[in-house]
Amino acid sequence: MKTYLVTGGAGFIGSNFIIYMLNKYSDVKIINIDSLTYAGNLENLKSIENNKNHVFIQADICDKEAIAKIFADNDIDYVVNFAAESHVDRSIKNPEIFVKTNVLGTVTLLDAAKKAWTISDDKYKEGVKYLQVSTDEVYGSLGSEGFFREDTPLDPHSPYSASKSSADMFVKAYGDTYKFPINITRCSNNYGPFQFPEKLIPLIINNALNKKDLPIYGDGMQIRDWLYVEDHCKAIDMVVRDGRLGEVYNVGGHNERTNITIVKTIIEYIKDNVDSEVSENLIKYVEDRKGHDRRYGIAPDKIKADLGWYPETTFEVGIKKTIKWYLENMDWMKNVTSGEYQNYYEKMYSNK
Ligand code: NAD
Ligand code: DAU
Repeated sequence: MKTYLVTGGAGFIGSNFIIYMLNKYSDVKIINIDSLTYAGNLENLKSIENNKNHVFIQADICDKEAIAKIFADNDIDYVVNFAAESHVDRSIKNPEIFVKTNVLGTVTLLDAAKKAWTISDDKYKEGVKYLQVSTDEVYGSLGSEGFFREDTPLDPHSPYSASKSSADMFVKAYGDTYKFPINITRCSNNYGPFQFPEKLIPLIINNALNKKDLPIYGDGMQIRDWLYVEDHCKAIDMVVRDGRLGEVYNVGGHNERTNITIVKTIIEYIKDNVDSEVSENLIKYVEDRKGHDRRYGIAPDKIKADLGWYPETTFEVGIKKTIKWYLENMDWMKNVTSGEYQNYYEKMYSNK
């Protein structure tokens, strides 16, 4: 029985990861710590609420004492750090919380894990590992050709990607300085169930269903490399188990699409299957994001060669599954955009 400390497990990818792991393995225990910011929602974990191998603890990854206690109370084998402030637009408005959670929170976790796992100087409990869930945004922006590889220099542009790059550097430093057992994964844009509707795909689905404007930043020709969230979960599982210590693994499925193509794909599906009145007339070109990265594209050759990872869900299948999920879970959407978040959400996201 391996025990995972998963942080940010009530958020989008973290909750998908926990569900993926508990459905796949009966011999893993998951301790899920999340401070439940606007992006964390325990409703995401409803399908596994009775699973005894999942324990939820509300805690902030910056809270040294709380994290130390969790390590003292549990025999943890792996840390998988998803917890983060994750939205670029928010980081442009308020960078400070990104430094706190993404950088200080990561260092707090590294330090607690190092203390708990140390046997003697630079020697750690057998088989343990710290995995940092990072992002392709640390590499900056590509021109029309080429891909991000693991040795592409870091060149972050937004406060979000600067904070994720800093965190990666600390993780690397723990590996280099203390021989601490680490891996870093850098994945491209995820989509799928439970993604907070501030991010492009769920925002467009939600607005289209409500016949609200569909905001496109700038000319809409920016490119992202989309990966169905379950394929990211599979990659993390493989890297935790078999990733070579100290290595970075890029994760992406060569699914590059312009933003305008994504938006038109969603409109077409909703128009054909849900509401014939939804049309491209809802598209509204708005002011561009500051420092907007033009193109992301991942070369996943290393994770394929080392671990045999490959994406199982094509974009054509994944986007339909995703829209259907939101249609079947309208209450989820209503809950995350109402209550205490309603005013904030309405102001920020519903009709940009
Ligand atoms: P998310 O915003 O949906 O979830 C983040 C979770 O972290 C939330 O549950 C939130 O409550 C929790 N959290 C935030 N601050 C915390 C703190 N101080 N202590 C404890 N918990 C805290 O994010 P996501 O999209 O699921 O991303 C998860 C991770 O994956 C992030 O590290 C992100 O950088 C990375 N990532 C995301 C994508 C993507 O496309 N979404 C792609 C690559 C990498
Ligand atoms: O690449 C991985 C990253 O993907 C993750 O590290 C981040 O956590 C995640 O938020 C995501 O970042 P992006 O900035 O790429 O995602 P977002 O959904 O915010 O935007 C996708 C693209 O769509 C981007 O070019 C901006 C554009 N956009 C976004 C929104 C919200 C719009 O044109 N209109 C919008 O309303």
